Order: sequence, then C-alpha cells, then structure tokens
Amino acid sequence: MKKVKLAIIGGGLMGKEAASAMGRWFVLNNFDSQLELVAVCDLNADILKWYAQVPTVKMLTQNHKEIIANPDVDVVYVAVPHNLHLALYTDVLRGGKDLLAEKPFGIDLAAATEIAVVAKATNRFVRCSSEFPFLPGVQRVITAFNEGKFGKLVQIKSGFHHSSDLDPTKPINWKRQSQFCGNIGVMGDLGMHAVHVPFRLGLKPTNVYAQLQKIYTERPDGKGGVAPCDTWDNATLHCDIVHQGLTVPMTIEMKRMAPTETNTWFIEILGTDGGVKYSTKEPKTLWTFQRGKEQTWTKTDLGFNGPFATITGGIFETGFPDCFQQMLAAYVAERDGFLDGRFGCATPEEAVMSHKLFDAALQSHAQKSVVAVSL
Ligand SMILES: NC(=O)c1ccc[n+]([C@@H]2O[C@H](COP(=O)([O-])OP(=O)(O)OC[C@H]3O[C@@H](n4cnc5c(N)ncnc54)[C@H](O)[C@@H]3O)[C@@H](O)[C@H]2O)c1
Repeated sequence: MKKVKLAIIGGGLMGKEAASAMGRWFVLNNFDSQLELVAVCDLNADILKWYAQVPTVKMLTQNHKEIIANPDVDVVYVAVPHNLHLALYTDVLRGGKDLLAEKPFGIDLAAATEIAVVAKATNRFVRCSSEFPFLPGVQRVITAFNEGKFGKLVQIKSGFHHSSDLDPTKPINWKRQSQFCGNIGVMGDLGMHAVHVPFRLGLKPTNVYAQLQKIYTERPDGKGGVAPCDTWDNATLHCDIVHQGLTVPMTIEMKRMAPTETNTWFIEILGTDGGVKYSTKEPKTLWTFQRGKEQTWTKTDLGFNGPFATITGGIFETGFPDCFQQMLAAYVAERDGFLDGRFGCATPEEAVMSHKLFDAALQSHAQKSVVAVSL
C-alpha cells in the first residue's frame, strides 16, 4: 500500500483529532493509500509530549521550519489560530509540501486570496478542512438535491450552532479575540461548515443582509481578571440565491450562543415538489419531503455509510471522528487520483468565496443594508 506521510503543525484540539483518525486508518476497507503521521510541531512542549505515544511519529519540534525541511513529509495539516494561517500555510507551500489547511483559510479575505494565489503558483495540492459533508446524512442530502426532483426551490437554511459560550464564566481564548480569530468572528469559526455544501451544490448568494451580535463583551482572563471579548458571537446571514432563474431566500446561521446546542450542523432545502433536511441533532435521521396526493415528511434511519467503505457494520452509528476520518480519506483520494466522483474537500476557491461572503456580511451589518456579492 502506498504511504502518504503527513506532519501536523498545531497539535491542539484538531491536531489530536487528525492523529486519532490516522491511528485507526485500517478502519478504511480496500483504501489504496495509507496516511501516516510522521512529525508534529507545536510551540507547547506539553502538547508535543502527547504525540510521543504515537508510534509512527519520528519528529517532535517547536519549529515549523524543521517540519518543512523534513524530506520524509509529503503533506502538512496546519491547525493553528487564524492570525497565523497566512504565514504558515504559505511557508508550507513554498517549502514544496501539499497542504491540508484549516478553516477559515486565513484571517480575512486578503489573507485567503493570497494563500490561494500561492497555492496556484506553487502548484501544490491544497484543500481546506470541512468534515460534516462526509456524514452519511449529508451525503444523502447532496444526492437528493442532485437528483433534481425538488421542483422550484422555495427556501434553503444552512447553519452551525453551539452553546458553550452561554456560560459567562468560560475563560477567554484566542477564538474570542479579533486579533487572533479575525474581525469576522464566529463566521471564521463556523462559517466554512455552513457554506461548503450550499456552495458545492451551486447555491451561491448574490447578496447578503447580515445580523451580527456581540453578546458578552468580556470574559474571565483565566488569571483572576477579565479580558475584552470582541468577536462576533452570532451571525445570521439573509441571502438571495438564483436557482433555475428564480430568486430564492437562503439563510445561513453561525452561532456560538444557541441555547442547548452542542455542535449542531444542519441544512434544509425545500422545493415545491420535494425537499430534504438533516441535522446532527438527530444524527441518524434523514427527513425527506414529498408532494404527492398528500404532502409527507418521510423519516429514514441511517446506518454507517460514508463515501469510503469501512469495516464498521452498516447498521452502526456515525460520529464526529468518523466524518473527520472520511474527510482525510477524501483528501488523500483526490490527491492520489482515486476520488472517483465522490464528494471532495473544500477547495481554495470555495474558501475564498466564503471570505467574500463574510466580508460582505461585515459591510452589510455596518451599513444596515443589503450588500451585493459576486461569487
Ligand atoms: N474542522 C473543525 O471542525 C475545526 C474545529 C475546531 C477548530 N478548527 C480550526 O482548527 C484550527 C486550530 O483550532 P484548534 O481548535 O485546534 O486550536 P487549539 O488552540 O486547540 O490548537 C492550536 C495549536 O496551535 C499551536 N500553535 C500556535 N502557534 C503555533 C506555531 N507558530 N507553531 C506551531 N504550533 C503553534 C498552539 O500551541 C495550539 O496547540 C483553527 O483554524 C480552527 O478554526 C476546525
């Protein structure tokens, strides 16, 4: 089996998730390439210690340049705060490595555009992380829409909600400070998740009216004091899309303060003849709307059927680690030429499009007006 050797820069929450997905690569059945974690870089020595337990890791370093200079590395997964995306992603690309980037692919539109330009100039294989489309329920949504039997589209809702920020005693971290997370705030955090599937289905906003909320403006600093919390907590984007000549409303919601939601990704596409909705709140359940003599919602109980075959029984349940592994499989399959028409990871062009939308949303909120977007 061909080996693809991967290094991680930024070994925190997502770095560990990637390491765990690679550690059980044998879950994938008849998969042509093995993704193997060989090196990790993090500034934090305690984090590096965690990776010492991974038998395939040969290099642990606090200097990302050592990762880039390592001839044994083919691909680098970079999962660091947003203010570092531009410098580290472009270092990786100029160092001759392929890149699995994290969202939002740069702290702002200018950074995302520059990363995409460098990706093209260096001719490296670059994709951006967004794992929810690889859940069986989301795959079914994509298939149902592409069958083209929904009639005239009526409305689209897409979003991502969580709620841990409702706790005002939760200490500040980099994701709640604009200098590290970006002026787009929650849109940078959750936005790629909410737009990846609509964009891929061709549902691209032509304008946006944005409602942005800063709800808690300070948080404990973790050292006994308080620190300013200056990022947008919640964003609701009211957009128009044009589908088969009709203008259709699409709402995109990204919320850190959505009561009771832990990590809820959802989509709903409704047409005059049919429709579909799926939410990770009910991860096994696909709802399908059909207009016949009567109008019905059909509830389908889903099994374990990601785009890439696994040893896991088809009646079992899928979760976050599974869709993250399926996304890594899609990255490798596309890079090595055997994606075979399956859903691929978010492209640099899609990441830049997401930033154009979020940039327009910032303008819309500031002006309290509808802003045109060209995607
Ligand atoms: N795909 C997803 O579902 C998902 C979920 C959460 C976060 N993310 C994204 O992943 C990225 C990282 O988020 P996270 O939650 O893992 O953050 P985190 O804070 O848990 O981890 C970031 C790590 O980067 C390290 N780091 C900082 N500067 C560095 C440098 N110069 N060199 C090497 N390491 C450095 C930090 O020490 C830390 O361990 C962000 O872009 C975020 O938006 C994606």
